[in-house]
Formats: sequence, structure tokens, C-alpha cells
Amino acid sequence: MTNKFATATICHDLSGPDGVRLEPQQLEPLAPGQLRIRLKAAALNFPDLLMTYGKYQFKPELPFTLGMEAVGVVEETTDPDGQYQIGDAVLYKSKTGAFAAYATVEASQIEPMPKHLSYAEAAAFSVTFLTAYVSLIERGRLKAGEVLLVLGAGGGVGQATVALGKALGATVIAAASSEDKLKVAKESGADHLINYHDHSFPDRVNEITDGKGADVILDPVGGTFFEKSLDCIAWSGRLLVAGFAGGEFGVLKTDLTAAKGCSVIGVRAGEFGRRDPAAGARVNIGLRKIAEAENLRPIIGRTWALAEISDALRAMERRDVTGKQVVLIED
Ligand SMILES: NC(=O)c1ccc[n+]([C@@H]2O[C@H](COP(=O)([O-])OP(=O)(O)OC[C@H]3O[C@@H](n4cnc5c(N)ncnc54)[C@H](OP(=O)(O)O)[C@@H]3O)[C@@H](O)[C@H]2O)c1
Repeated sequence: MTNKFATATICHDLSGPDGVRLEPQQLEPLAPGQLRIRLKAAALNFPDLLMTYGKYQFKPELPFTLGMEAVGVVEETTDPDGQYQIGDAVLYKSKTGAFAAYATVEASQIEPMPKHLSYAEAAAFSVTFLTAYVSLIERGRLKAGEVLLVLGAGGGVGQATVALGKALGATVIAAASSEDKLKVAKESGADHLINYHDHSFPDRVNEITDGKGADVILDPVGGTFFEKSLDCIAWSGRLLVAGFAGGEFGVLKTDLTAAKGCSVIGVRAGEFGRRDPAAGARVNIGLRKIAEAENLRPIIGRTWALAEISDALRAMERRDVTGKQVVLIED
């Protein structure tokens, strides 16, 4: 394929969703070792939104193609005897490039698509379920029978963490800001639901656990949510700091940390595997195994066309989304 044009969503400035535009991109001939993937679906993640403002820890040079995860089919390969053949369905995982008609990749950037998922589900699987896996298993050491509290439980990372926590045998308490979001958590297996508007979540967690508190807490929200989490963590509990969707960092109350003998643990799922590739490979294999065995899947709250990417990002910004948002790509 030479001199073919295909659409991509290009971020031109750091003004937020308004700075993202759909444009034709020239597809260069493949270099040795490369494959061309015809993308079928791509999923939104909160870091995509942060990147449009230049507020994410990874700051790509402008202009760049937005999107961290997608699923597609191999359309061209320079290595017909390699691991991937034309027609294979694959996951594309990156920091950028997923909201486009095509991705040009090395074999190391793709993985076979999980067989138990649809295209839309597979597109939305990698980032949030990897974050949940690294959080609960590698960082939180969650054990069967423990109590897991998930904040932001109706969002992408939250939903995946509820589903994985349940598969690992925890009692899962899900907290979120609306009944729609709690419905997503319930569908993912949550045992108890807390709407922040109806209850103080620490009080309700303490009631549910007879004053013991949650053994593991996953916090993708930050700010006062993080701070209040220390009011309902169990003795020797693990508070996992996964994100700051609320836009504020929390302040650590070291008196409570000492009094409860608990740990506050940071999570960076992608960096976990980049820093230690052997651990990254172990995590990938473990995640695939439990996802297929336990039928773990993202819940798709809404689908969009590629041309609607800015609207999808704005919906995420308004907190007006449940589960995962997926862009269906038809070029
Ligand atoms: N550590 C890692 O490796 C890793 C990996 C991926 C993502 N993350 C981070 O995890 C966080 C969640 O990502 P996500 O993709 O799950 O996002 P998401 O699907 O948009 O979910 C975020 C949730 O946070 C809550 N929230 C509270 N205040 C908010 C606000 N001002 N704006 C938007 N949401 C708000 C919302 O739930 P309620 O309305 O119910 O409060 C929402 O459902 C982000 O900070 C992201 O950067 C971390």
C-alpha cells in the first residue's frame, strides 16, 4: 500500500477536546518488521482527556494522534512467516495513535485479541483491566475473603476493578455518584453499593463491615475522596492511589496511617511492565488467564463515531459517562 490516505484524530494544541480534529493522514509504505492494522474500534481513557490539555505525565509532541488502545485486523505485513498473519484480530496498546483508521506497528505493540470479547469490548479491555490487575494483585495483594472498596466504581478503571475484585473472591463495595454508575458496578458483581449523595461513604463502609473497614481501597478519584478513605480503611489495609479524576491530589493524614497500620500505595500499571518487562509479561499472562476463565469484560456505556471524538471527550469531562466509551471506526 503506498500513498493511501486514511483518517486520524489529530491533537493540534493543548486547548482540550476542542483542539482535536479528524484529518486525512498519509500512510507510508511499511518498513521491514512493521505491520499495518486496520482499526475497528478504540476506547477512551481518562489520560486521553488529560493529554488534550497537556496535563498527563506523558506529554507527546504536538501534533499527535490521540488514543491509547484499540482493536483491529492485520491488513499488511512485511513478515508473512511472522507471529501475525493477514486477517488476524489484534489489540493495539500504545500511548497515542488509537483513534485512527490505521495503525502502523511493530509486532511487539500488538497482542492477539481475547477470544471471549466483541470488537468493542476488546478495544476497551487493556488499559482498565491491566490497571485493575496491577492494583489488586501486584500492589494491593488482595486475598479472597477480604473487603475491597472501589471509588469511582462506575467509571472505566472502577468497573474493571469491581469485576476483577469479585473474581478474586473479595466482598466488593462499590461507591459512585449516580444510580446509573452504580448499576454498572452491580452488573460487574459488586456486593454493596454506595451513592455518595445518599451516604458519607466512610460511614457506610464502616457500617457494612461492622466497624472493621475495607482491607483494600482503590482510589481513581483523589482529593477529599482519598482523604476520607483513611476513615474507613481496616487495620493493615492497603489504600491504592490509581488516579486523580476529580482534578485534585489528596493530602495524606499520617496520624491515621500510623494508627491503622495501613499502607498507601501508588499504582502505575503501564510503567509497572516497562520498568520490569518480566513482571509485565507475567501480569499480561495472568490477566488473560483470569479474564477468559471468569468472563471478565468491560461494560460499554456509549459508542461514538470517529468524527465525534471531541464530543466523547467532553462527555468524559462532564462526568457524564458510565463504564467505557468506545469509538467504532468505519473509514
Ligand atoms: N494508575 C494507572 O495506571 C492508571 C491507568 C489508567 C487510568 N488511570 C487514572 O484513573 C482515573 C480514572 O480513569 P478512567 O479511565 O477510569 O476514567 P473514567 O472512566 O472517566 O472514570 C473516572 C471516574 O471518576 C469519577 N470522578 C470524580 N470526579 C470527577 C471529575 N471531576 N471528572 C471526571 N470524573 C470524575 C467519576 O465517577 P463518579 O461520578 O461516580 O465520582 C468517573 O466515573 C484517571 O485519573 C486516570 O488518569 C490510572
